[in-house]
Amino acid sequence: MLEDKANSWCSTVIPFLILITAATAVSTSSLDRDKEVLLNLKSFLEKQNRVNRGRYSEWNQRSSNPCDWHGIFCSPDGARVNGIDLSESKISGEIFKNFSALTALQHLDLSRNTLSSVIPDDLNRCHNLLYLNLSHNILGGELKLTGLTSLGKLDLSTNRFLGEVKLSFPAICNRLVVANLSRNNFVGRIDKYFDGCWNLQYLDLSSNKFTGNVWTGFARLVEFSVSENYVTGPVPSSTFSKNCTLRGLDLSENKFHGEFPGEISNCKNLVILNLWGNNFTGPIPSELGSISTLEGLLLGDNRFSRMIPESLLNLKKLAFLDLSKNNFGGQVQEIFGRFRQLKSLVLQGNSYTNGLHSSGIHKLKNISRLDLSYNKFSGPLPAKISQMLNLKFLILAYNQFTGAIPPEYGELSQLQALDLSFNRLTGSIPPALGNLKSLLWLMLANNSLTGEIPRELGYCSSLLWLNLANNQLSGRFPPELTNMGRNATPTFESNQQSDQMIVGPSECLVAKRLLTTDYSPFGFVYTILTRKICRSIWDRLLKGCGFFQVCVRGSPVRENLVSGYLQLSGNQLSGEVPSDIGKMQHLSVLHLGYNEFNGALPTEIGQLPLLVLNISRNKFSGQIPMEIENMKCLQNLDLSHNNFSGTFPTNFNNLNELSKFNISFNPLIAGRIPGIGQLATFEKESYLGNPRLHSPLFKLEDPTLPPSNLRDENGPKSEKRVFPAKQTEDRFWWKALLMEYGCGMVFGMVILYVSFRKVQPKWFFTKVEAMHQWKIDQSLKRNCSRGGGRIIC
Ligand SMILES: *[C@@H]1O[C@H](CO)[C@@H](O)[C@H](O)[C@H]1NC(C)=O
Ligand SMILES: *[C@@H]1O[C@H](CO)[C@@H](O)[C@H](O)[C@H]1NC(C)=O
Ligand SMILES: *[C@@H]1O[C@H](CO)[C@@H](O)[C@H](O)[C@H]1NC(C)=O
Ligand SMILES: *[C@@H]1O[C@H](CO)[C@@H](O)[C@H](O)[C@H]1NC(C)=O
Ligand SMILES: *[C@@H]1O[C@H](CO)[C@@H](O)[C@H](O)[C@H]1NC(C)=O
Ligand SMILES: *[C@@H]1O[C@H](CO)[C@@H](O)[C@H](O)[C@H]1NC(C)=O
Ligand SMILES: *[C@@H]1O[C@H](CO)[C@@H](O)[C@H](O)[C@H]1NC(C)=O
Ligand SMILES: *[C@@H]1O[C@H](CO)[C@@H](O)[C@H](O)[C@H]1NC(C)=O
Ligand SMILES: *[C@@H]1O[C@H](CO)[C@@H](O)[C@H](O)[C@H]1NC(C)=O
Ligand SMILES: *[C@@H]1O[C@H](CO)[C@@H](O)[C@H](O)[C@H]1NC(C)=O
Repeated sequence: MLEDKANSWCSTVIPFLILITAATAVSTSSLDRDKEVLLNLKSFLEKQNRVNRGRYSEWNQRSSNPCDWHGIFCSPDGARVNGIDLSESKISGEIFKNFSALTALQHLDLSRNTLSSVIPDDLNRCHNLLYLNLSHNILGGELKLTGLTSLGKLDLSTNRFLGEVKLSFPAICNRLVVANLSRNNFVGRIDKYFDGCWNLQYLDLSSNKFTGNVWTGFARLVEFSVSENYVTGPVPSSTFSKNCTLRGLDLSENKFHGEFPGEISNCKNLVILNLWGNNFTGPIPSELGSISTLEGLLLGDNRFSRMIPESLLNLKKLAFLDLSKNNFGGQVQEIFGRFRQLKSLVLQGNSYTNGLHSSGIHKLKNISRLDLSYNKFSGPLPAKISQMLNLKFLILAYNQFTGAIPPEYGELSQLQALDLSFNRLTGSIPPALGNLKSLLWLMLANNSLTGEIPRELGYCSSLLWLNLANNQLSGRFPPELTNMGRNATPTFESNQQSDQMIVGPSECLVAKRLLTTDYSPFGFVYTILTRKICRSIWDRLLKGCGFFQVCVRGSPVRENLVSGYLQLSGNQLSGEVPSDIGKMQHLSVLHLGYNEFNGALPTEIGQLPLLVLNISRNKFSGQIPMEIENMKCLQNLDLSHNNFSGTFPTNFNNLNELSKFNISFNPLIAGRIPGIGQLATFEKESYLGNPRLHSPLFKLEDPTLPPSNLRDENGPKSEKRVFPAKQTEDRFWWKALLMEYGCGMVFGMVILYVSFRKVQPKWFFTKVEAMHQWKIDQSLKRNCSRGGGRIIC
């Protein structure tokens, strides 16, 4: 009996104890094994990244328990490593090839690094992965993720993956809820492979090269985007069954055609419908008027018929309406004057000729953004627009408006951007615009404005971007103008609090135009805008968060700042440039070319943190200020066609970033161009027409020699060429100066982003964010702070 009992004790309890000890032994040794893999990972990363390293290099320094390490997550019992977050860790090179040794790994985030090459087979063996984020790297190759059958969230966006998706879908569909394949080079069809993804809710296929027809099962998702692809065909009405759960649908910038089905009204929760940039024809479905949740409707750049259904007036929440580029022509449809709920109305590019008054648009009191650019409106600018007191963006550029700028526009106290450029405006700039304390942009370029620049513009304390190029302005550079933009902080702060910005494809065009002159810092913006991150850039900018590096006076460190431009070229401005110019510490670009400025260039110019200084074709004389040397960030310096004298400023050799330099046709300049250093990197074309200048590297014209062909063309022989008559030979250059819409490419935003003042809940923004359920560009949104009156982020 005893024996029996002992036996049974032995046979039950002892194995149990053994089991327990064994289990503990196993668990510690599992964690030890995980730790060993992580240490391998660490040394692998350190080997590939010898200079800049992320915080993984701290692993195992303070604690030997991997669960305490930065970016490492463990199971609740602390027994296994189950998550790794190496996002933004400055990692370059290939992906570590032994993640599968971490057999409990569920969460792997390698986003925002510079990982290259392909996804290794090893990763495909991480069968327990629930979350995989490889976004924002430079990974390529074909996608074969057949092994990751547990995945719930997959983010591969912004990489260089190619090939078709059928190698991974539907293989990994089982539990997939979120899939982001946006911004890669995927090709092929999408119409079949997602049918089996029954749990999928968010699918972003935007900005790839998908072709063929659309996957018609998308209406059971919460959000679907296939924006910026080559998907074609009509959207069948059967797509939108009664079961439609969509909240966001983005088909923009594809090749869809045919009528858009009225069955869309089955999507009772739809918040945003973006059909921009397709070839949809026929009527705008009147059924849209029954989707009471609809807040954003982007139908621009299609061929919808002219009739706007009355039913849309019922959409109480409709705030953003884009009916741009549908070639409506003629008179503005009267119905637009009745959309009282709108905050943003975009009708650009429709060839309208009139109807601004008769439609009563100016009575829409709640509108904060009105874009009527690229139409054929003529006659005087509508003064009544000044009744739209909530206007923040008034874009009337590229029309044929004539007459003077109504001084009443100075009453639009909320105005942040006024763009009247490329019209036929005459008269002088109304001093009343000086009342616009929130104005960030004033764009009056390419009109026929005359008279002096009103000194009152100097009262525009937020005005960072002023473009008056190509008018017939005369008189002096008012010293008061140097006060413009001296403190944009209140405007930025109110934008930070209110989220009043709105971004759709049309707004990206405007953003691009407001930002780019020949502007190297903004040239960068130009490139990335074409890559569709306009939304975050624009957001950042309006909130005063800098996004390019600016040299700050007296500091060796560069700061990310918001920085402006002053573009006055192509006028008849004369007199001296005031020495107060040194106060304009927020300027990155200064264009004074093609004017009649004379006298000495003030030495204070050297105090500006400029990237571009272009004063070509004026009558500046005297010594070139040596102080220009202090502009350490200067990239582009054009002093050509002036009357500077004195010795050649060899100290400009210290401008290490100078990549464009032109001192041609200042025939009184004498001296030697250094044979080494920055100045020696420029070709002869930077030094033309300066007979007293010598170079050890090439031969400049020597007046003692018989004239060469070159001299005949460019030489200082004819005084006329030194100061050529304006407006005769230079038709071409305003193009280079002024921003152009002619980008050919338009940008579909995955999701438009609208949000409004505090009185209005931040409804749109919140909803869009909630729709994503993921953090969107958090890195861009955080860290808005101020320093020294300037906002630094
Ligand atoms: C992966 O890690 C495990 C555990 O550290 C190790 O035994 C194995 O050799 C590694 N495999 C490779 C290919 O490095
Ligand atoms: C997918 O990724 C892109 C780029 O990383 C991002 O802009 C987009 O918002 C993401 N899609 C969704 C639905 O969040
Ligand atoms: C709607 O959903 C139900 C159940 O979710 C399904 O049985 C039905 O087939 C769906 N109807 C359509 C038209 O897709
Ligand atoms: C739109 O459709 C019309 C008629 O079908 C065709 O002529 C035109 O080329 C299409 N436009 C685009 C941009 O595909
Ligand atoms: C206009 O905006 C105000 C406050 O933002 C709001 O109370 C009002 O209802 C809006 N008007 C319409 C017609 O939507
Ligand atoms: C403005 O631009 C148009 C082209 O869009 C051009 O034809 C015109 O000459 C320009 N006007 C002025 C005053 O430069
Ligand atoms: C300076 O501006 C003029 C027009 O004002 C332009 O033609 C020239 O190319 C610019 N110079 C440089 C170096 O960018
Ligand atoms: C250039 O400057 C010199 C003095 O430095 C002056 O004598 C001459 O008249 C000026 N030329 C022109 C065309 O303004
Ligand atoms: C400098 O300006 C002159 C006169 O406008 C021009 O002929 C020359 O090509 C320019 N040089 C460079 C490098 O752009
Ligand atoms: C992936 O990482 C990026 C950048 O860190 C982030 O913006 C995005 O929201 C992440 N994706 C998911 C699905 O969590």
